[in-house]
Amino acid sequence: MTRSRTGGDAFSGGTGEQILALLRQHTEAHISGEAISHTLNISRSAVWKQISALRAAGYLISAEPSKGYSLDASPDTLHVSEIRNGMKSRLIGRRLLSVAEAVSTNASAFRLAEEGAEEGTALIADFQSGGKGRMGRVWASPRGVNLYCSIILRPEIKPVAAPQLTFLSAVAVARTIERLSDLKPRIKWPNDILIDGKKVAGLLNEMSAETDKVNFVVLGIGVNINMRAEQFPADLRHPATSIFIETGKTVSRSSFARVLLEELDELYLEFIKEGYAPVRKEWLEKSMLAGALVTVSDNGSSRSGRVRGIDESGALILETGEQILSGDVVLGG
Ligand code: BTN
Repeated sequence: MTRSRTGGDAFSGGTGEQILALLRQHTEAHISGEAISHTLNISRSAVWKQISALRAAGYLISAEPSKGYSLDASPDTLHVSEIRNGMKSRLIGRRLLSVAEAVSTNASAFRLAEEGAEEGTALIADFQSGGKGRMGRVWASPRGVNLYCSIILRPEIKPVAAPQLTFLSAVAVARTIERLSDLKPRIKWPNDILIDGKKVAGLLNEMSAETDKVNFVVLGIGVNINMRAEQFPADLRHPATSIFIETGKTVSRSSFARVLLEELDELYLEFIKEGYAPVRKEWLEKSMLAGALVTVSDNGSSRSGRVRGIDESGALILETGEQILSGDVVLGG
């Protein structure tokens, strides 16, 4: 179950969001309480209550008796209006839900999709109590520092082609990190984003399908943005990092979410029009594996070889022609 912080209001487009939107339209000047009350058709005391709630949530809103209110600074929240502010996306995030807490955004998005949620619906949580990783692992999801996001897609593709969307999301995450920092992320097959060999983001795509037809895919994306070293679980299997740890700078999570939705939008619309080839090309460019000697372990067995590329079904292809469908990859033979 997803649970919103204020009964669904402040995080999903309620009066608080509308007031924030008005304040943002008036960054050059103040906006009077009367103008807000008139525009939103609410009482002056309702305006005052919402302004107090926004201040309590960390917004710096100054008030001048003769002029009105102005927004001086925003906290690092994941409010819908914050994410939407200037967003250029057309399909992805057209419906955008942001909640304070979810067990797993993938589980919630899967339910929404089963209930008929439209393509492009994006669900973001500030905290996950049961974040899911690959192979039944747990995805550490502390509050207030990272991005946990799931997106519903309804592509007209065969189930065997669904892993192509995992590569698409990996490229989108890598592009986003490149746009918002000086870092050079690398993609590791099938779905890890690494910085200097340490994992900064993971993808978990889940699908509902019939034999020949995809009903929907949920793209699950977890990015360690402002997480501190001490917030990682002690027993991590692979070294992990965050953008903050690598750069020493915090990144606005709402900006990250906005850019990520924009990149997903661009890549997905191109995928619908032109197919898998552009994604595959960029994935290989951003991958650390092309031509590398690797060892892949899966269920106790392991294989080594030099990587040639990835195929239509998402399998890793070795130079021997061997096709590897799943497993954990490490560099070296
Ligand atoms: C991995 O093991 O690398 C995949 C991690 C995927 C984590 C994300 S966070 C948002 C979405 N909701 C989940 O429960 N998992 C994915």
